[in-house]
Amino acid sequence: MTRVVGSIAPHGGQLVNRVLRGTLREAALERAQSLPKVQLTPMAVSDLEMIAVGAFSPLTGFMTREDYESVIDTMRLSNGLPWTIPITLPVDDETAASLKEGQEVTLMDGDHVMGIMTIADRFPADKKREAKEVYRTTDEAHPGVARLYQQGNWLLGGEVFMVNGPKVVEFPELRHEPAQTRRMFASRGWRRIVAFQTRNPIHRAHEYIQKTALEIVDGLFLHPLVGETKADDIPADVRIESYRAILRDYYPADRVLLGVFPAAMRYAGPREAIFHAIARKNYGCTHFIVGRDHAGVGNYYGTYDAHYIFDEFEPGELGITPLFFDYTFYCRKCGAVVSAKTCPHGKENWVYLSGTQVREMLERGEMLPEEFTRPEVSRVLMEGIRAKKEKKEE
Ligand code: ADX
Repeated sequence: MTRVVGSIAPHGGQLVNRVLRGTLREAALERAQSLPKVQLTPMAVSDLEMIAVGAFSPLTGFMTREDYESVIDTMRLSNGLPWTIPITLPVDDETAASLKEGQEVTLMDGDHVMGIMTIADRFPADKKREAKEVYRTTDEAHPGVARLYQQGNWLLGGEVFMVNGPKVVEFPELRHEPAQTRRMFASRGWRRIVAFQTRNPIHRAHEYIQKTALEIVDGLFLHPLVGETKADDIPADVRIESYRAILRDYYPADRVLLGVFPAAMRYAGPREAIFHAIARKNYGCTHFIVGRDHAGVGNYYGTYDAHYIFDEFEPGELGITPLFFDYTFYCRKCGAVVSAKTCPHGKENWVYLSGTQVREMLERGEMLPEEFTRPEVSRVLMEGIRAKKEKKEE
């Protein structure tokens, strides 16, 4: 283990590093040629990378049955450490039947060798229970549940090593790993760092909560998720361009670091809020923003369920400090972004837009209202979405 830089310890105490380099990597690559091949799902591709770089510390591999069941039932690993989302490697019945415990396999991203795993456990997924406990619904219309139901019925657990990054590495210049972000924060002299998770562009409400948080810490780590998202979320490349536009014009460059979070979106609401917070602690962040319906989708979760779930852990257990924000929006009378906690004017003065409304406006080539989104951001989104639509129609 290398010495860990930063003002907060990784989850479980040590930053995991399962990336093979140099002669160890060459030897593993050679061995990988003759081992049975296991195809990774898109989510497992990102999970393998996240495990290997330490973003999911203390995990060193895909979960065994003991950890899987413990996480589902108790929101903890079998050693008692808080952990809310199963990190599993699903395979179909045929693949599961062809493998045994103790065997080494090559983990494939399509035709590309990505890693090596020693199978410690091979067990059936308990999809209904996982859906009910982790997603709080068994409804197949929930995107996370739909993905879970479509996966193979068996899970392989065991330690992994990554020999190559994923086949397609998006945004390499922003893919700072936890060991790197820890050094970047330290070199900027930041001791208190707030992380912001998002799968959306930065609208005025996001900007308001980020800057309010920034008032009480040293730096903001803007950490958009760029792993798999549902088809109607705004594509990551368009979002990244919009982040660059708003950072350039509205944020002090020496107080913000932009990096991408390559994990897949689960849409598991409250449980995913804890998971997101723990991962950001591994990146070296001391604070984490949790706003309204964090990681939620549709009407599956209550507006503040992702706040309440933090009460189920002792503060010291998570380490990272959550910063909770109520629903914020622009008030025409205040001429500012507010919440019901800070504004007396009432709904008729408040500007809300749903995700669907935003998408439809952008697809029609309309700018979003200035009270909702900065024009610099609107323009990038509108042009990006229109270009994608035209490409699809060609
Ligand atoms: S998420 O799935 O990544 O949580 P999103 O990008 O919409 O989705 O939100 C990023 C963060 O901002 C989350 O913590 C969310 O709770 C918070 N958030 C989003 N919109 C608002 C809002 N209008 N008011 C308060 N918090 C918000």
